[in-house]
Amino acid sequence: MNVDGKHYRTIWLKEDDANIVQIIDQRHLPHQFVIEDLITVNEVAAAIKEMHVRGAGLIGATAGFGMYLAALHAPQTSTEAFMAALAADGDKLIATRPTAVNLEWAVKRQTAAIAAVGGDIWVRIQTALEVAQTIADEDAEFCRRLGEHGRAIIEEISRGKGGEPVNVLTHCNAGWLAFVDYGSATAPVYAAHEHGIAVHVWVDETRPRNQGARLTAWELGQHGVPHTVIADNVGGHLMQHGLVDVVITGTDRTLYTGDVGNKIGTYLKALAAKDNDIPFYVALPSSTFDWENRDGVKEIPIEQRDATEVKYIQGLHGGEIVKVLLTPEESPAANYAFDVTPARLVTGLITERGICDASEEGVLSLYPEKQ
Ligand code: MRU
Repeated sequence: MNVDGKHYRTIWLKEDDANIVQIIDQRHLPHQFVIEDLITVNEVAAAIKEMHVRGAGLIGATAGFGMYLAALHAPQTSTEAFMAALAADGDKLIATRPTAVNLEWAVKRQTAAIAAVGGDIWVRIQTALEVAQTIADEDAEFCRRLGEHGRAIIEEISRGKGGEPVNVLTHCNAGWLAFVDYGSATAPVYAAHEHGIAVHVWVDETRPRNQGARLTAWELGQHGVPHTVIADNVGGHLMQHGLVDVVITGTDRTLYTGDVGNKIGTYLKALAAKDNDIPFYVALPSSTFDWENRDGVKEIPIEQRDATEVKYIQGLHGGEIVKVLLTPEESPAANYAFDVTPARLVTGLITERGICDASEEGVLSLYPEKQ
């Protein structure tokens, strides 16, 4: 997608050095656009844990490239030593963040492909590179496709409003910054905008890390999509006054039964949408499905992050990015990063294969090979 008119993905190999992976360090956005080099798997693990990169799809793609860097630097004394080092590095990556299922999925996909290829170590390293690229390319393509499916929803609402702007409410950043390109929740919006459908996005600021205010607002602005940043608690009021036509969020892990794990606060938006008869869609590429667990509230692991993210707030002051204390210094804070929206509150899931009910039957009708 575009940054000052230039096309970027969120992760790529350095043009003149395939031993270096480059990312946009999202901690500095929207005020500074910083590209970071990643050379070792430890740097990749830190980049995921400390959220230089974040969002389900991008965490998966970064883990894919992390496994490629792990393979590049693994001992080459024997296949056993090489594979053992890869397994340890895979575990290290998986341990960085618990909720987005794409992370483990990407590591397991890499490990299986590298183990299956056989041959000498150089062939295995080449396989790791190919799989990393494939994961990234697939992520971008699947998001592009789900954007086209989601566009139909916005188009229909637009027709019903006689072409008046369609008001979409979204939470957190499930935009192209959370994936390799296009985004999940934002992909239908970008597709609609490109097709000349008038659309406006209510952007929840998304405390405590403000992914909405900092990232979603920035990327929508870069694409000229009309949007308004709102405090997290405004959505219900807007819905009661007819100012929201549809809610579209992303997800970090959606169970094949339809329960949705997403950024903290999503559940409350879904409740408000239900109470106001407003459709609530969740957009995801299939890499974000959890095909094992059945009960989201009981089984989706919810990351708890450092309390300082709640107690402090970051912004631009005098040209510098600074953090300031928001709470009384002594007050303890709790930082639950995700919540679960039960399937019964979800109108539908927008995937690269089409739109389905948020239910086991609905999901398996699109992915029959998972029966
Ligand atoms: O903690 P983050 O920023 O990695 O959280 C992920 C998110 O941005 C959201 O939960 C998003 O809606 C789903 S990720 C595509």
